Formats: sequence, C-alpha cells, structure tokens
Amino acid sequence: MKRKIAVFASGNGTNFEALANACADGRLDAEIVLCVTDKPGAYVVERARRHDVPTIEFRPKDFASKAEFETMLVNELRSRGVELICLAGYMRIIGDVLLENYGGRIINIHPSLLPAFRGADAIGQALEYGVKVFGVTIHYVDATLDGGKIISQVAVAYDGSDREELEPLIHAQEHILYPRTVARILDSLPHENQ
Ligand code: GAR
Repeated sequence: MKRKIAVFASGNGTNFEALANACADGRLDAEIVLCVTDKPGAYVVERARRHDVPTIEFRPKDFASKAEFETMLVNELRSRGVELICLAGYMRIIGDVLLENYGGRIINIHPSLLPAFRGADAIGQALEYGVKVFGVTIHYVDATLDGGKIISQVAVAYDGSDREELEPLIHAQEHILYPRTVARILDSLPHENQ
C-alpha cells in the first residue's frame, strides 16, 4: 500500500510539484493525501488542485493560538492517515502540538548547507556573505529554527553574485533531492497503526 504523506507550503510550491510528480511517475511509492497552507490563495493551492490533492488553507490569525491551529491540523492529518509531513517552503516554526503528535515524522527542505544561513532568505544571506559553495539541506524538524538532525545535503558550486542565475540552480537540486530523500525515509519508517 502507498505511504501517505502531507506537504505543507506557504508559497509557490515547486517542491510540492516535484514530490507530486515523483508520486505520479512511481519514483516515490507514496500519495500526497493533503496539502496544507497558511497562506490562502498561494500558488501551491493551484498546483495541488491540478494534482487532485485536497488542500487545507487556513489563516493563523483566525485561531487563538498556534496550539489551536496545530490541533486542527493534527486532527486532519490523523483522519487521513498521514505518516510523514514534508515541509516545502512552509515559513512557520512548527509548535509543540505537531511535534508531540508527529515527532520524528516531520522533515524540512532548506536552501543552504545547514548549519549555515538558517531562517528566511537563506540564498540572499549566502550571497551577501559571498560564499562560493551554496546548497540544499533536508533535515528532521525539531523545536529549533532549521536545527534538527540532517538527513541529506547537496552542494551547489557558484562563483558569482547574480541571484537570478543562482536560484534556479539551487531549486533544480531541491527538486531532485527531496523526492529521493522522502523515498529513502519512507523505506525505513515504521508503518503507523492509525
Ligand atoms: C525552497 O527553496 C525551500 O528550500 C525554502 O523555500 C523555498 C520554497 O519554494 N524553504 C525555506 O527557506 C525554509 N526555511 P517552493 O514554494 O517553490 O517549493
């Protein structure tokens, strides 16, 4: 039986698309059963619609607290049998409720060689610093910002300062690395008895 995953995103959703395509063409023996976004109307919603993936769009400010909206999300995830949560440009710190319910089953992709350049606009930070080797990291999510155990990384050598030239190089590597890493994690992840 296909493994069930959820993808959380706040924006464009190209990593959602990479995972959805890998599910569709069999590189990933999984099904995205839920897309979650904290930015109603984000382009990822359109991508999910095209892939027939149901989406939950919510506004954090409509809830009294992070615990409250994460409780709503945990209920949705559990009712759909989600086994692994893949953050793909979800620009929000994961809170206690999700960590307690999905501990060790939440992963994130970040566009730098962690632990360098945590947080927002990692590519801009790295360009500003003047590094010559950029990269991508996939890691487990814990309560720290981009700080959980590293699962996989890829380096992107680039000796220049043109963001428009660099960004597609990094994103192309993300779109290869994420499906491969998710496949590897699912192989070793015990089945949840929902
Ligand atoms: C990706 O580059 C991802 O690594 C980054 O957001 C982008 C989302 O792009 N994530 C972070 O910076 C997390 N700290 P996408 O919406 O096209 O997938």
